[in-house]
Amino acid sequence: MKIVLASDHGGYRLKEDVKKALSARSDTEVVDLGTDSEESVDYPVFGEAAGKYVASGKAERGIVFCGTGMGITIAANKVKGIRCANITSEAFAALAAEHNHANIIAFGGRFIAPEDALHFIDVWLTTKWAGDRHERRVGELDEML
Ligand code: RB5
Repeated sequence: MKIVLASDHGGYRLKEDVKKALSARSDTEVVDLGTDSEESVDYPVFGEAAGKYVASGKAERGIVFCGTGMGITIAANKVKGIRCANITSEAFAALAAEHNHANIIAFGGRFIAPEDALHFIDVWLTTKWAGDRHERRVGELDEML
């Protein structure tokens, strides 16, 4: 699976930790759209870039990072076809996949430990989309932009 990563400075360190772990997996191809340091940058630029990358089909999934996970989630969700969820727990990771069919997830680099992020990523990647009644709702989301 191809996964695109992007962050602002607040999520940079966690992005780097996640990139290192995912890149070591033989079944995962990682693309990093930046940022490349802890120098201050604007999260909308990176959220939009990751959103467009996934929406255009260049990657199947995306993971984005900022200080809280909130700003970059808002940015990614401005791209048509993106369903990005900010993840803070195992249950949210599972439900983002099962109910919301999230194609991007976000983390707050100032709040989430790398080992927790990696666990939540695995839960999100392995939890199946439930479809059924959620199909209509996700369809309604995708019609909005
Ligand atoms: C940047 O300081 C910070 O505002 C950003 O990383 C993010 O938390 C915004 O939602």
